[in-house]
Amino acid sequence: MNRVYIKTYGCQMNERDSQAVAALLRNKGYSIVSEEETADVILLNTCSVREQAEQKAIGKAGYITAKKRKKPNLILGIMGCMAQNKGDSLVDTLPDLDLVIGTQKFHRVPDHLDNMIASMNGLGPRPETVVDIEEEAGSQNTIKSHMDDGPKVSAFVSIMQGCNMKCSYCIVPKTRGAERARPMNEIVDEIQALADKGTKEVTLLGQIVNQYAVREFPFVDKKSPFVQLLEKVNAIEGIERIRFTSPHPVGFKDDLIECYQRLPKLCEYLHFPMQSGSNSILKAMRRPYSIEKFRQIIEKLRVIRPDIYISTDIIVGFPGETDEDFEATRSAFEAIGFDMAYIFKYSVRPGTTAEPEGDPISKETKEARNQILLDILGRSSLARNQSLVGTTQEVLLEGKAKRGDAMFIGRTRGYRKVIVPANERLIGELVDVHITDASVSSLNGELVIAD
Ligand code: SAH
Ligand code: SF4
Ligand code: F3S
Repeated sequence: MNRVYIKTYGCQMNERDSQAVAALLRNKGYSIVSEEETADVILLNTCSVREQAEQKAIGKAGYITAKKRKKPNLILGIMGCMAQNKGDSLVDTLPDLDLVIGTQKFHRVPDHLDNMIASMNGLGPRPETVVDIEEEAGSQNTIKSHMDDGPKVSAFVSIMQGCNMKCSYCIVPKTRGAERARPMNEIVDEIQALADKGTKEVTLLGQIVNQYAVREFPFVDKKSPFVQLLEKVNAIEGIERIRFTSPHPVGFKDDLIECYQRLPKLCEYLHFPMQSGSNSILKAMRRPYSIEKFRQIIEKLRVIRPDIYISTDIIVGFPGETDEDFEATRSAFEAIGFDMAYIFKYSVRPGTTAEPEGDPISKETKEARNQILLDILGRSSLARNQSLVGTTQEVLLEGKAKRGDAMFIGRTRGYRKVIVPANERLIGELVDVHITDASVSSLNGELVIAD
């Protein structure tokens, strides 16, 4: 009864939470399996950010509960944002569910499983469904252990939990609770430990990373706690690359912009959510910046790092988005020339301040607006990739590529995917790659062999 399969939906934060749960379970003698069929326990770590994300996980859970009829001892748990959002009502939809674990209770998963398995082994009645979704002070400090996680070339490090913003479309403050920062020294120790085990790249995670610990730690020499943290991570021997996601235009001040000049390990890549190019929609979304301000930050960054790569998030079809509003988004999107973007069709979320507005923009309009932005993105991403053909790029080799023997996959500092023939022993190394070919989504190249 100790083989656990974890399936993760949603953002990097969820991925990191799943890794932490896996590490805790391994420590308690469970084994983490990569195939659902062989598992005794299936845990779905879920996302609520759009309705479709919830539907996907509910569909999957329904499929697994059907399997439980043939395999009654199979344990099914739902964790994460949808567990937090729906709580008890999930059990009404899926009566055969065994565990519902909220976003502040990941660390309780091993105990809940132990108890459940113990009572099953006692051959007693099927234990009651456990619903554990209370808030817990200090829970941000539980997503820290990378112990027994196996070595990682590139690691996610959660530096905070929750979000205090009130973007009108967004369910995350409800699913993740209020902003809580981890102590800076604990984060640094964790990254040091990762570096000691061979990790070369870290991605610092938070809903608004640049807001990190603004209430808990003082500004020093006008530097925010987040910038102070970046400096400390930059000083860790063995770490070669630093990334973070996601920053917010509010609080993206010169102290952070200057980091792109003075911190050599900070990669020239930024995921910078714009959401809309229309000031009236930004206002309705309760995003407290103007498109001019947003573009000004990018311009400053490009002065300092002309080669910076920028990606973004956009929502199309927010209630009230007129053709003119969308045109403002389209033109800003095109003018900025994003290297990557996630474009989302608006989805009404229960309990958000935009919920009462309903979903007045038709599916067709959303689809058409989505496609227009995707076409622009395809062109700008391809042009950027093509500009790299003939250059030599520093690539961190992460592992084997799916296609072809002896093909390996890695990323440039700008987060472009590179496929290259190489050797297994180079995994985890920074290698120079001569770029020979480009498509919209990846680059091909050859190792530059040192003389
Ligand atoms: N904290 C991050 C965003 C986390 S959610 C930030 O503020 O940048 C990731 C993305 O999902 C958001 O940037 C937004 O573009 C999208 N999103 C959030 N709620 C949504 C909704 N109700 N409908 C469609 N997309 C949404
Ligand atoms: Fe959601 Fe806004 Fe917080 Fe991001 S900043 S998680 S979009 S409420
Ligand atoms: Fe989804 Fe929760 Fe992340 S709602 S986007 S998994 S914080």
